[in-house]
Amino acid sequence: APAPLIDAFGRAISYVRVSVTDRCDFRCVYCMAEHMRFLPRQDLLTLEELDRLCAAFVARGTRKLRITGGEPLVRHDVMKLFRALSRHLVSGALDELTLTTNGAQLSRFARELADCGVERVNVSLDTLDAERFRALTRTGELDRVLAGVDAGLAAGLKVKLNAMALKGVNEDEFVPLVRFAHARGMDMTFIEVMPLGELDGPARVDQYLPMHVVRERLGEAFTLDEIDYRTGGPARYMRARETGGRVGFITPLTHNFCESCNRVRVTCTGTLYMCLGQEDAADLRAPLRASAGDALLHEAIETAILRKPKGHDFVIDRAAPASAVSRHMSMTGG
Ligand code: GTP
Ligand code: 5AD
Ligand code: SF4
Repeated sequence: APAPLIDAFGRAISYVRVSVTDRCDFRCVYCMAEHMRFLPRQDLLTLEELDRLCAAFVARGTRKLRITGGEPLVRHDVMKLFRALSRHLVSGALDELTLTTNGAQLSRFARELADCGVERVNVSLDTLDAERFRALTRTGELDRVLAGVDAGLAAGLKVKLNAMALKGVNEDEFVPLVRFAHARGMDMTFIEVMPLGELDGPARVDQYLPMHVVRERLGEAFTLDEIDYRTGGPARYMRARETGGRVGFITPLTHNFCESCNRVRVTCTGTLYMCLGQEDAADLRAPLRASAGDALLHEAIETAILRKPKGHDFVIDRAAPASAVSRHMSMTGG
């Protein structure tokens, strides 16, 4: 087998996040501007090209593929891609095929996803209050997401909920979110907001809440114990004694986890980002389209991985620029 991808800091890259569209049916205020200009459809990689790209990474030691967006389930025929990718699970080349979704279309796709070998899905859910949900997502409907979550569970998927920790927005819901998740056997993870892309809503510094505040709030209702549980992502998990469920913390700002980074991202146009918090990127679309063989593609990937930076340098404070990188989260899917 060809050598796995190792970067200049000795980190093995075994987790690839592939964005299949920059579009989304929501417009979350911390993620997008209200009126986003989306990419023209002809700029997107075809599903066949996305499949080839994923296969190239799998051939080089990728063990975990996460399909993201935008919202991955709004990409036309996205199930075709999942069906194709499931062959890597069958062959044993891949440990996990999964996705991160806003959940709004999950009712429709949960069963098919499970049939493709998807075992876990991450659903973004920042609030359980319908009005707040509408304000936060601008276009989303809470009930559809909750129905999506239920459909996922009914299809036998393990569902993890992700909530952004947002100052003055859902601060009073951290405990209810944990209770909601744990009552249904789901993990609940909280995420610190990162300075990505220009927004037209509240300023980042007014959204940002450091994770210790979340911990404090949770401490009022739960006793959290350290546990040794990892999913290959950056979350650190604890167990709530009162519910027996897991709570995850993703702390790009207060506890940098770049040293153990194992992942890269590919956008829906075939741009490879070596780090979520850096602008450096490599075009994989040209080598992909240059020939039917994959030699150029592999060469481009190898060269790019060697440029993977040590980490991000996100800061959120009044003195810092509003965004560390100009692209929105919807380009790289988190
Ligand atoms: P699991 O497989 O459940 O561990 O998923 P994950 O945490 O890798 O994926 P998910 O899509 O749930 O990621 C949640 C959020 O964590 C993302 O939307 C990002 O905000 C953040 N995140 C994930 N990976 C990175 C990373 O490499 N760097 C930074 N700074 N943030 C990340
Ligand atoms: N910082 C951190 N996470 C973000 N997400 C969207 N924008 C940001 C940001 N600026 C999260 C969403 C979703 C995932 C895809 O990315 O809440 O869970
Ligand atoms: Fe869409 Fe996810 Fe961004 Fe919200 S966070 S606008 S659901 S891509």
